[in-house]
Amino acid sequence: MKKVLIATEKPFSKEASKAIVEILKENGHEPVLLEKYTEPAQLYEAVKDANALIVRSDIINKEVIDRAPNLEIIVRAGAGFDSIDIKYAAEKGIVVENTPGQNSNAVAELVIGMLVANARNFFNGTSGTELRGKKLGILGFGAVGKRIAALGYGFGMDVYTFTGDGVFATIDPEQSYVKDLDSYDALFKECQYLSVNLPLDDLTRHLVNYDRMMMMPKGGVIVNSARVEIIDEPGLVKALEEREDLRYLTDVAPKSAELKEKFGARLFATPKKCGAQTAEANSNAGTAAASQISSFFKTGKPTFKVN
Ligand code: 3PG
Repeated sequence: MKKVLIATEKPFSKEASKAIVEILKENGHEPVLLEKYTEPAQLYEAVKDANALIVRSDIINKEVIDRAPNLEIIVRAGAGFDSIDIKYAAEKGIVVENTPGQNSNAVAELVIGMLVANARNFFNGTSGTELRGKKLGILGFGAVGKRIAALGYGFGMDVYTFTGDGVFATIDPEQSYVKDLDSYDALFKECQYLSVNLPLDDLTRHLVNYDRMMMMPKGGVIVNSARVEIIDEPGLVKALEEREDLRYLTDVAPKSAELKEKFGARLFATPKKCGAQTAEANSNAGTAAASQISSFFKTGKPTFKVN
């Protein structure tokens, strides 16, 4: 029997938590829930005798890992694992996994929802615009990017991406309507709407910068459902100041105070990151994490190992 800590500052839905606990118990393990914690100290205390850990965007750094001498596996119930020190975990012999694709539809639906709300002036009764016939560029053609492409195409948008960065695989035949441009710059030049769906790493940090934003066509909109660090925020402030037609929609809170204060309705930010916050996504990602942990302890073989 292994002790599995489910540590979520932003909890899963009740149904998802219940399903996770059931899977772990069925496999003979002892689940422990730490939800809505506010201090790292609570996590330090909870992790000290855990053999496995399920997290969302919770920060799992050296300090946490050093307090968890029995930890064998961490599963990020979600896609991005930039909040986990995967190198240090590897040094300590801890396997880190994610659950790719499990929450992608939820994020994609939120992105399209933000695009519609923006095009309709946040439903304030004034005359808006339609998405049909507009150009949608996708930065990062992974599970979320592919799903946004499908939804955008359903709205009658022309969909573009750039897969030449090697971050993600190429375009599948069933999405042959997506045009693969030859650079990020080309995407910025071509597309009025740009959706950011890249993982955060040294290659993607500040990839959305002032020069590129200034290349966008009139009425350019950037929608970010990935990570705040992919945007060069001082560059974004400058671009929004110089071009009154540009807008920024984000599900990841801006860090810059200027951004939050200066641009009125040209900047929309959700109050708390909620792309993956649906009953379905919680249940898909959470139960996948519980199953991956159970399988790891049964077979010794990892699934979707990232370190
Ligand atoms: C992810 O990387 O899976 C998404 O950004 C969702 O993150 P969350 O689980 O913290 O909502």
